[in-house]
Amino acid sequence: MRPTRAIVRLDHVVHNLRVAARLAPGSKNVPVIKANAYGHGAVEVARALAPHAPVLAVAFIDEAMALREAGIDHPLLVLQGPSQARDVATAATNDFWLMLHEPGQVRWVAEARLSTPITTWLKIDTGMHRLGLSGDQVRPALDRLRESGNTLGDTVVATHLSRADEPDHDFTRDQLALFAEQTNGLALPRSIANSAGILGWPDAHADWNRPGYMLYGHCPTNASSPGGPAAELRPAMTLTSEIISVRELAPDEGVGYGQRWRAERPSRIGTVAIGYGDGYPRHAPNGTPTWVGCMRAPLVGTVSMDMITIDLTDIPAASVGDTVELWGENVSVNEVAACAGTIGYELLAGLTGRVPLEYSS
Ligand SMILES: Cc1ncc(COP(=O)(O)O)c(C=O)c1O
Repeated sequence: MRPTRAIVRLDHVVHNLRVAARLAPGSKNVPVIKANAYGHGAVEVARALAPHAPVLAVAFIDEAMALREAGIDHPLLVLQGPSQARDVATAATNDFWLMLHEPGQVRWVAEARLSTPITTWLKIDTGMHRLGLSGDQVRPALDRLRESGNTLGDTVVATHLSRADEPDHDFTRDQLALFAEQTNGLALPRSIANSAGILGWPDAHADWNRPGYMLYGHCPTNASSPGGPAAELRPAMTLTSEIISVRELAPDEGVGYGQRWRAERPSRIGTVAIGYGDGYPRHAPNGTPTWVGCMRAPLVGTVSMDMITIDLTDIPAASVGDTVELWGENVSVNEVAACAGTIGYELLAGLTGRVPLEYSS
């Protein structure tokens, strides 16, 4: 069996949710498990988190249905709301909560004939300019929902921060001020903070927070060495493979496609069974760290579909069969992402189905 796998510590995910809860003791949390729980396996993560959170969040209805079909019966908040009118009835029969971001969705809910009312959230655009009602659309939407009798309890008013990962940025202050103005006088629960908001913006903590990336053990604000509250987070995934071949290179010999790396000294090169077909970033340059034994070993040469090559010259004991960590406990996914010109979110969510997920708790 191919040795490549991602080992997921569900106890770390639960620990990270507790960190989010401790940082914002007055808020409830909606753990975000969209995109297969950021690559960690939505069903398993949902099972682990359900006892610790009143509701879990996915991006769209199909993700919510897939969880139901897998036996997850916990309430699910659908962050993009209904994709078509009939999704509203699906939500009512499946205990999906709908985040409505657009007047057409409000109309679908108001006009639906439902056997049971549904929980709704209303998303307001405070500057992200991606989704959300404008300030003047909020009160008419709330009136329409209330009059329809199709909504259960209070509608939560929500917004999303676009620059919360930039410490102390004025734009986040502007978004918070605008949200306060747009929702002034509404006696309704509020939701603002994602991970970056929870970790860095106490003023964004509201009735409901929506942690995603931090649950998986990473800080959205910092490439490699988070300080402050993020230091308490524990990486949930360790992506590993093994050395499947080792060879000696003379100075000036090149490695891999395009010979993008050439030996400057007599070198030992290890070939590792992982590549971009698994989700390892094709653009990772020479020098991107991996972890072998108890040392860093730099990537050398172009990432192939099924393999990478690493420089083992300074780790003479390393040999075929040794484990290589691509990211996890010893090499932060944020650091690998920074080397490859992307973000850890993309690497985690981009793991392909070729990589088996193994759960260690
Ligand atoms: C509306 C909404 N809330 C919360 C989150 C979680 O964000 P993060 O993973 O940065 O915590 C997301 C993720 O993109 C989102 O779209």
